[in-house]
Amino acid sequence: MKTINDFIKAKEEKRKITMISTYEYWSAKICEEAGIDCILVGDSAGNVISGYETTLPVTLDEMIYHAKAVRRGAPNTFIVVDMPFLSYQVSVEKAVENAGKIMKETGANAVKIEGGEEIISIAEKLINSGIPVMGHLGLTPQSVHALGGYKVQGKTQEQQKKIIKDAKMLEQTGVFSIVLEAVPSNLAKEITEFLDIPTIGIGAGKYTDGQVLVFHDMLGFFDKSPKFVKRYLEGKKLFTEALEKFKNEVNTGKFPSEEHIYQ
Ligand code: KIV
Repeated sequence: MKTINDFIKAKEEKRKITMISTYEYWSAKICEEAGIDCILVGDSAGNVISGYETTLPVTLDEMIYHAKAVRRGAPNTFIVVDMPFLSYQVSVEKAVENAGKIMKETGANAVKIEGGEEIISIAEKLINSGIPVMGHLGLTPQSVHALGGYKVQGKTQEQQKKIIKDAKMLEQTGVFSIVLEAVPSNLAKEITEFLDIPTIGIGAGKYTDGQVLVFHDMLGFFDKSPKFVKRYLEGKKLFTEALEKFKNEVNTGKFPSEEHIYQ
């Protein structure tokens, strides 16, 4: 993906989009080398990197720090940066100022904001200011307290109607893609079919136009994974084994051996 037009083109040509959420140089470099279409510098950095329970404490400066490192690691990849909690909801002016700071300082290609009808005027102003916007519907983690926890969304008819209406409004406003998080597969399918812009799912089944996973989740760095995560590696186990081996070899004098010593 080079530009937002490539997202629409991928949908037209029925090519699935891959997106990975990650936060620093080396993982971004690996994503680019693996040919991942798009990197999301997600505010899940708050959970994954900082160890917070929610994404709420994440600051704009932290997102900019992560995004700069990701851009250095993946100079040729399309990068979307999450606008953190209350960096855009407070006012249209604040949203443009903060999104502008992200775009100017990080070299990102787009920003992502959470919500539907309630953030339409903000999305519109960002887009009219020349900042591409990715939407995010369903389980929107910045509203975790209002939603009553990390729960699947769109189970009731009322919720479904709202998500469908929000998706239509976001598309009309000009967002180039929408993340659908933790919604039933049939709802994601319906939304994907009526939108011309691509949907990128996480816990939204297989009918979305693309899939996004968090780097550390899909590589198995946590003890437990939610149902929607496929662990492509048992990272925590492998890293722990390597560290145990290092400790053991240092203690027994096996490391460093001749090959690792300057003469
Ligand atoms: O913050 C994040 O990583 C995200 C993805 C899970 C979609 O928003």
